[in-house]
Amino acid sequence: MKAVKLEDKRPTWTSKYAFIITAIGSAVGLGNIWRFPYVMGQNGGAIFLAVYILIISTICFIPLINELYIGKLTKKECVGAYESINPKFKYLGVLNPITGVLISAFYFIVGGWIINYILKSLINNDVIDYGQYFSEFIQSPLYPCLLTVLFLFICVFITARGIKKGIEITNKILMPLLAIILLFLVIISINLPEANKGLEYMFKPDFSKLNSHMILAALGQAFFTLSIGMGALLTYGSYIKEDKNLVKSTYTIILSDTTFAILAGIMIFPAVFSFGMEPNSGAGLVFVTLPKIFSQIPCGNIIAFAFFILLFCAAVTSGISIVEGPCATLVERFKISRVKACSILFCIISLLAIPATLSFGILSDLTIFGQTIFDFLDFLTSNIMLPVNTLFLCLISGWYLKINGVNIINNKIFALLFDIGLKFAVPTALIALVYMGLK
Ligand code: PHE
Repeated sequence: MKAVKLEDKRPTWTSKYAFIITAIGSAVGLGNIWRFPYVMGQNGGAIFLAVYILIISTICFIPLINELYIGKLTKKECVGAYESINPKFKYLGVLNPITGVLISAFYFIVGGWIINYILKSLINNDVIDYGQYFSEFIQSPLYPCLLTVLFLFICVFITARGIKKGIEITNKILMPLLAIILLFLVIISINLPEANKGLEYMFKPDFSKLNSHMILAALGQAFFTLSIGMGALLTYGSYIKEDKNLVKSTYTIILSDTTFAILAGIMIFPAVFSFGMEPNSGAGLVFVTLPKIFSQIPCGNIIAFAFFILLFCAAVTSGISIVEGPCATLVERFKISRVKACSILFCIISLLAIPATLSFGILSDLTIFGQTIFDFLDFLTSNIMLPVNTLFLCLISGWYLKINGVNIINNKIFALLFDIGLKFAVPTALIALVYMGLK
């Protein structure tokens, strides 16, 4: 394996627990609670879940541990990490913070919607048609923009406070809170009448629904939910002081992320079936279907409040990891303070996020390759940039750095499988993913 230049005097996590909980915080986000249930709903339920579990525990393990390992090895932010492998790779490294900025522009819009629903659940006003309410809200010119910027401010503020006092503490508080609320809502949901129909939908596979499109949807969802491909985890990995068992940490992240996604499904589908609603209503599942259900159950307002706080916790802990990648790059490349870096990011992301927010309303006619700004940013980052960045990093590790599985994994057979996966299987899967995305 080639040698890389190391750097010291950087912040580090206070403990291994702190690293794992922040990495889980990055992974568990809107991808688990908002995206996973609706992608599963659109792709046949249980059979999607089976394929997803298979993919996330095998193929995804490789790029995830690879990203953490490169961060831990180089002890640098993304651009520096790529540069220390070979100065020419610096330009590939730059794609990571750029992806981070572009992802935040659409991710934080959904964060703004969540704040709206939290406030709404406190006010207790009656809505007759939730579909209409949601579309009127996202189309209005000012309020969603203000909420997007507010959500961005919260994430940037926490990131600016630093690794220990900002990111670590927030995750240590919000992640247990998220788990408690989720369990509380799961218990309520599975006790609803006819909840078993929802559980059946989640756990009884219908093999006739198995197809290549669904497999790629599962692959894309797995990469997105694990936060692979924009340097967030590489940067988190670079703050690891000592972790002799990265394999165990990686599996803990995957297992926790999958558990949260499955629990989110168990929270949502029994309720959806119990009220005779459609499980495949897409992105509106959480913002239209669920509020409709909350309005029909006793103490619905409290439950709605708890649910949107849950989403908020998930979105914030992921949001700060999205900001941390570009923030670390600005701090370490330009030798500026975190506060300055975060202020710059706040301005840049706002400039991108505001037009994207308006793309549901007054800017809906402005399209890029036939898509609104919001849809284009989602498509560009999730379908193209995340897999492409991951592809580059796997190729660099496998073919240029020639990382040996035995250096990371303590078992010869698994190490060999890792080597093959890193060099062949994962790049092939990623190319298929990008190809399908472009089709
Ligand atoms: N994993 C996060 C989620 O599931 C999203 C994310 C993607 C965060 C990429 C960081 C990097 O919501």
